[in-house]
Amino acid sequence: MPQRIGVIGAGYVGLVTGACLASMGHQVTLRDIDEAKVRMIGDGEPPIHEDGLKQLMHECRDRLRATLDLAEMLEASEIVFIAVDTPPTHSGDADLSRVMTVLDELEQIGATGEHVLVMKSTVPVGTGERVRAELDKRGLESIGYCSNPEFLKEGVAIADFLSPDRVVIGDFRAADGDKVAALYEPLGAPILRTSVPTAEMIKYASNAFLATKISFINEIANVCEEVGADVIEVAEGMGLDARIGPKFLSAGVGFGGSCFPKDVSALKQLAGNSGYHFQLLTSVIEVNELQKRRVVGKLKRHLGDLEGKEIALLGLAFKPGTDDMREASSVVLAARLLAEAASVRAYDPVALEAARHTVRGVEFFDDPWACVTGADAVVLVTEWPEIIGLDWPKVAQVMRGDVLVDGRNALDPADAVAAGFAYEGIGRVAPS
Ligand code: UGA
Repeated sequence: MPQRIGVIGAGYVGLVTGACLASMGHQVTLRDIDEAKVRMIGDGEPPIHEDGLKQLMHECRDRLRATLDLAEMLEASEIVFIAVDTPPTHSGDADLSRVMTVLDELEQIGATGEHVLVMKSTVPVGTGERVRAELDKRGLESIGYCSNPEFLKEGVAIADFLSPDRVVIGDFRAADGDKVAALYEPLGAPILRTSVPTAEMIKYASNAFLATKISFINEIANVCEEVGADVIEVAEGMGLDARIGPKFLSAGVGFGGSCFPKDVSALKQLAGNSGYHFQLLTSVIEVNELQKRRVVGKLKRHLGDLEGKEIALLGLAFKPGTDDMREASSVVLAARLLAEAASVRAYDPVALEAARHTVRGVEFFDDPWACVTGADAVVLVTEWPEIIGLDWPKVAQVMRGDVLVDGRNALDPADAVAAGFAYEGIGRVAPS
């Protein structure tokens, strides 16, 4: 049965959630405090780059609207998703001020309806209990609260929402959880019902485990380089064990994005705040930091001192399919190369605009050929299809030098060597 849904925060998670629920037949009202965003959504323009989102917004334009007015959104909805930012503070804890502002606003409006608030933002374990207490303190006892963490991956968020591996719902009152579960039932995925703190923990534990898998395979890759093994085949051999599985075992220049780095640190912090030292996560973070910098060592092995050397970075976004530059490995890598007095140029098919605001001192190109021409070395940082598909023998010809560091193991080493490159992958031995 179609429901009236509200979404507070029309950022990445809020907008995808809203558009997907609208596509399932529900009437969705998004509320954001950013006027430009609200206007763009009203015009059918997604303010973020996400595959298929514009099309989806177009298809369900009659059921998806945006407003600046919380009271208006509340009036139009029964189930209200909260998808506001929870950035890390200086202490590594999550900043919940935006969540608390929403509660203040609800109090000011005098919200008395039987709304159910559904927390989609990633929040520290214990937040739900705090919000519940705050709601009660403000006389908003009739408003329900559930935790429903999101597991969307940027770039494939719509498919992840509509075909999830699982849906997790934590509630204080079963009736509230039932309403949220009913929304997801048509998707046919397993729905796990838990307490609110357990649902909050499932989100952190899942992201921390995936990040651990990546740091683990990156360390295996580094050892492979020492002993002459090939990490891609090692990962394949490991992944065939059903207990391990093949996913998230791609070695590279480290994980980035708005989630893994933030959530791993937040979980470590959360444990620390309650007196537990989460040793494993400390290593996961440290391995990831070192991994971003290892490319510099590889370049030096071929080029010696990097001063004045022309280094071309292909791909800047933290992964393909997004213009998101948050915690992208390219940012640390570019800064390290600049600190070595190298001259750094960069190309990205989508993230250039976002990169200009994030990375200083780099020369940006909107054409890959202009970027690689005359370079001493090329580093493949983000495995965009348009970068993998370049005419690599031609790249080798237009460069000044011959060094190619494949930071995502996206190319065939034998082909690269045949094209004339001095090839370096991550955890692979190039044929001589
Ligand atoms: C991640 C999780 O995968 C989602 O399930 C979760 O919902 C989301 O965080 C979140 O908490 O909101 P996302 O940050 O979009 O999603 O990106 P991923 O596709 O998971 O990639 C994260 C980083 O790990 C990227 O930099 C990617 O290049 C890197 N990665 C991924 C590897 O280096 N190796 C791999 O094998 C996989």
